[in-house]
Amino acid sequence: MCGIIGYVGMENAVPVILDGLKRLEYRGYDSAGIAVLNEQGFGVVKQKGRLSSLEKLIDQHPIDGVIGIGHTRWATHGEPSDINSHPHLGSQHRIAIVHNGIIENYQQIKERLQQKGISFVSQTDSEVIAQLAEYYYTGNIVETVIKTANALEGSFALGIMSLDEPEKLIAVKQDNPLIIGVAEHGNFIASDVPAILAHTNKVYYLNDKEIAVLTGSTVEFFNMDGEPLHKELEVVNWSLDSAEKGGYEHFMLKEIMEQPKILQDTIHSALSGDNAKIIESLDIAKYKKIVITACGSAYNAGMVARYVFEQLCRVSVEVELASEFRYKDPIIDRDTLVILVSQSGETADTIAAMREAKRRGAVTLSIINVVGSTIAKEADNTIYTMAGPEIAVATTKAFSAQLVLLYLLAIAFARKLGRISPEVEAKLVADIKSIPNKAAEILERVDSIQKYAASCVGYKSIFFIGRNIDYAIALEGSLKLKEISYIHSEAYAGGELKHGTISLIEDNTMVVAISCCERLYEKIYSNVEQVISRGAKVLMIGNCIKAAPGEKLEVIKIPAINELFSPSLSVIVLQLFAYYVAANKGLDIDKPRNLAKSVTVE
Ligand code: F6R
Repeated sequence: MCGIIGYVGMENAVPVILDGLKRLEYRGYDSAGIAVLNEQGFGVVKQKGRLSSLEKLIDQHPIDGVIGIGHTRWATHGEPSDINSHPHLGSQHRIAIVHNGIIENYQQIKERLQQKGISFVSQTDSEVIAQLAEYYYTGNIVETVIKTANALEGSFALGIMSLDEPEKLIAVKQDNPLIIGVAEHGNFIASDVPAILAHTNKVYYLNDKEIAVLTGSTVEFFNMDGEPLHKELEVVNWSLDSAEKGGYEHFMLKEIMEQPKILQDTIHSALSGDNAKIIESLDIAKYKKIVITACGSAYNAGMVARYVFEQLCRVSVEVELASEFRYKDPIIDRDTLVILVSQSGETADTIAAMREAKRRGAVTLSIINVVGSTIAKEADNTIYTMAGPEIAVATTKAFSAQLVLLYLLAIAFARKLGRISPEVEAKLVADIKSIPNKAAEILERVDSIQKYAASCVGYKSIFFIGRNIDYAIALEGSLKLKEISYIHSEAYAGGELKHGTISLIEDNTMVVAISCCERLYEKIYSNVEQVISRGAKVLMIGNCIKAAPGEKLEVIKIPAINELFSPSLSVIVLQLFAYYVAANKGLDIDKPRNLAKSVTVE
């Protein structure tokens, strides 16, 4: 987590970096800071709290310079505090760094340096990097960075400035993302593309153990032996608009509203664009088993996909939490296809699961949103969700794009396995092509969902139930609600209620029941009656609901669609429900407490 940015060029680095940090704040937001380098040495302003407080502090204590680094933090080592905020300086104030990642051997390095008389001011792991680089400084910053990086164990994306080579901004990475941006007026380092889109869409993707040396007009790359490297400059097709709120109060609402368009783009790409080629190249008949592994919402997308793959392909599918995968001695081999699902492509647990899968000989396929991310680069095959930059911490549009890619993958596999006829395939594809318009229909009814959600802010706990594929999407509805509204929530398979959870139902408990599986309607409705008779208030969401709304029952209908693809529609109601509950509570929806968008620590 944490966002880093650096700039060297012709403009004052401070507003450039502040603007970049605003776009990176979703990566961490418990403290922020900037360091610039000018004739007087380093000017550093940093403090605990949101970026808006940092801006005020900079107004009171202005700094300027044409080279600088900035950081927005999600604390790992050392509580959020002014002193633990980045940038960190060596004790001689000759080196300044910003760091995203975790240094696992920081304690050993710290003790070694302390024995040499170097004193530390913070509790962070990151400060050791600045101290060590200063200690190692040889008069050549590239050599120094190589020596320093070689001594570090763990993960790092680093921006480094040296008082002795004041025109150079250095970047190096290991297991955490870092891109280099090339603009007319100067050059950038950043944790991701949206941070620099206002200035350029031309980027280099830095790989692990590569060093970039930026001046205002040049960018050079080196390997860890100090040998020059050639890298290709790439053009990113994300627009600045897609990384701005565009009049919406929150990115989350904007991203929910973008779904019809991004669904269309993703479907198009899987049927006839770049993704189609990759999907067609996969020989599913080679594999005995499919394992889907991911975290959080991406895991929930896998839970939905399991029903679709198993139904259409009749192949056994396991869905594993990526954070558990490598510790369970997974039964996978070269006959297993491991599918990794990740918006960021940088989630540490999913990266580790991918590496474990590859180590055991499995073939990996990743479904990723961020081009150039670690998983996208390392997986054997990658297909991309066409969601564009997703800024709100709670995923919405990337999740929806993951779902349709997984459906289309399942259909292609079913065809290759001879499980579906061309007629059935054509019907299934037509159903999927209908999703964007049906999603738009739901979004047109946003007012009624908003009104209902406003009446739900007082609940302490809200349960989500569903059966079969409705259960899988209930997991996502529950996660969405709890992460942004801070209301306790759990999701259960409807049939599980009677095995324990029903004891929690009492007067004025709220239950959201999803009902899109017509053949199971009576079953889920009987669960609804069971909870209503124990005092619960129920919201039913679905396209096969026969019951009429009443005092204890509210109904939100969604358009009809094949049961297998219904999660793509019910989830839009669930997202809006979560959003408006949180909005009515006046919460910071785009940046929920304790969370960060890209979870690059284990
Ligand atoms: C929830 C959410 C998270 C992510 C999870 C995985 O709204 O966004 O649960 O889905 O952290 O992140 P990625 O998809 O980047 O691997």
